[in-house]
Amino acid sequence: MLSGEVYYPSEEVIKNANVKNWDELNERAVKDYEGFWEEMAKELHWFEKWQKVLDDSDKPFYKWFTGAKTNIVYNCLDRHVKTFRRNKLALIWEGEDGQLRTMSYFALHREVCKFANVLKSMGVEKGDRVTIYMGRIPEIVIAMLAAARIGAIHSVVYGGFSVESLAERIEDSNSKVLITADGAFQRGKIVPLKQIADEALQRCGTVEHVLVVKRTDQEINMESGRDLWYHELMNLPIATQNCALEIMDAEDPLFILYTSGTTGKPKAILHTHGGYMVGVYTTLKFVFDIKEEDRYWCAADPGWITGHSYIVYGPLLNGTTSFMYEGAPNFPYPNRWWQMIEKYGINILYTAPTAIRGLMRFGESWVKRHDLSSLRLLGSVGEPINPEAWKWYYRVVGNEKCPIMDTWWQTETGMFMITPMPCVPLKPGSGSRPFPGIQMDILDEDGNPVKPNEEGYLVIKTPWPAMLRTVYKDPERYVNQYWSKYPGYYMTGDSARRDEDGYYWIIGRVDDVIKVSGYRLGTAEIESALVSHPAVAEAAAIGLPHEVKGNAIYTYVILKNGYEKSTALIEELRKHVAHEVGPIAKPESIEFVDSLPKTRSGKIMRRVLKARALGEDPGNISTMED
Ligand code: PRX
Repeated sequence: MLSGEVYYPSEEVIKNANVKNWDELNERAVKDYEGFWEEMAKELHWFEKWQKVLDDSDKPFYKWFTGAKTNIVYNCLDRHVKTFRRNKLALIWEGEDGQLRTMSYFALHREVCKFANVLKSMGVEKGDRVTIYMGRIPEIVIAMLAAARIGAIHSVVYGGFSVESLAERIEDSNSKVLITADGAFQRGKIVPLKQIADEALQRCGTVEHVLVVKRTDQEINMESGRDLWYHELMNLPIATQNCALEIMDAEDPLFILYTSGTTGKPKAILHTHGGYMVGVYTTLKFVFDIKEEDRYWCAADPGWITGHSYIVYGPLLNGTTSFMYEGAPNFPYPNRWWQMIEKYGINILYTAPTAIRGLMRFGESWVKRHDLSSLRLLGSVGEPINPEAWKWYYRVVGNEKCPIMDTWWQTETGMFMITPMPCVPLKPGSGSRPFPGIQMDILDEDGNPVKPNEEGYLVIKTPWPAMLRTVYKDPERYVNQYWSKYPGYYMTGDSARRDEDGYYWIIGRVDDVIKVSGYRLGTAEIESALVSHPAVAEAAAIGLPHEVKGNAIYTYVILKNGYEKSTALIEELRKHVAHEVGPIAKPESIEFVDSLPKTRSGKIMRRVLKARALGEDPGNISTMED
């Protein structure tokens, strides 16, 4: 018997699940870890087989499926169009304005090939970086796959980021081509993507061509010679639907994705064609129990890792039908999501606790007016889910028959790491145990495993196929950030507990990362945006608990001489952060202060600010300057 509050799967769920016995699968994976992943890899297509499943001769620069040749796009598209799946829907898309588009595997393959030819005609070659900055529209998927098809490395920048974030990411990745849209619909308004991109391009000089998808149709600036319309390019004779696929080495880069870390600038996490493909394919199939007839909806944004792995690559690798929705969950009314689940007969819904908490506030009557009986599985990701939200999701949305897959993972891990499967007993708030075969632990400061239920640092002890390979252009940072605190172990940056049943409970980040509504932001990004305003001398940002967002950003600002404290200035500074980083980074509050707590070496002690704000004891402050 398991301790605490436990939700056991029904016999029906177990009978129909892809994995019926978790312990058996885990035993198999532990006994022969490489053999397990090799077996999974064999379900996909390779142009040449690997010599080695795992090469650990140069730790921590692990390699997977060395010597193998593949291309993830072949397995996402080409493989399926040779079968009955050519006519199956790959994508069902609904715009915020109600517009509906569908695309079969055949159609998606065609559009990807056409756009790949367009990219080639712009001089994009294997290994080149291409930045993609768009809303949630089918073209973001087409752009990512087209780049990968010809061996280019995509770098998607979330459409909610703004000028400085975009400029910095374009510059760091040295992209020659930017793919964007005129705008994106969000809560009835237009996010002026092209206008933001124009401003960003004034700050960085690498981009030669901007390819623009028409979505919102407002007047935009098109710079002659540089900016080109997507729909016009796709109608040119060069955009044929035959496009040779680049045969990639398993270890060739597939994409980089910028994420926030402990200090300084966002870093580009690098993922590859081979191992990443095997990891996301397998985890989605087992955890979300993918069946041929499913309609699956991951409500994240393609611009984050959740979207890369489980909107774009995972579902297509599994040949499933994905649903994508462009806009806000409560637009025009709080029943929008439930209405679409009913309308399209969605079977699997994967979202974030913040969305659940947000929709929960409107009350269950909005959910209950719709028939959600098509749902058989639910999922959660991005931050710890509080038991109250878990139970609401389970009872009201899942009608007490849909297991909730609370998946813990990161941009860096590429795939689910701690996760249940439908056959696993659930405890609300816990993602249960590591994926079969993966060894994790919780350590104290000195590297000793902590006792059950004690808090410590969460580490991963086994390499896994979808692991990041490095920080792009900065291998040193890769080693220092992830592998140096406890040599040989991957440091997640999270703290956690493990109960007597071996279930993991994530507590939160232990570094300078703030998860706001599940989005990952660094204190440094927010602070440098504040300091870039002429009135600000110094700034500090911290995350404090928030009922819906999980965490909200609180900031402390020292003004330069000659600037007056005022509510107007607070508003101006909040807007400035939104303009530089993005609306998600807009501080909840800005407090003017005369000094900030610092160590003698000048580092801001955010923990002291946090303790003060929460009315808690700041702990050891012996390193604080006078
Ligand atoms: O703190 C953990 C939290 O999100 C962090 C990773 O953020 P990111 O790279 O943006 O990826 C998010 C989507 C995979 C983790 O270090 N986190 C993610 N999933 C969970 C979670 N915290 C608790 N429970 C989860 N299920």
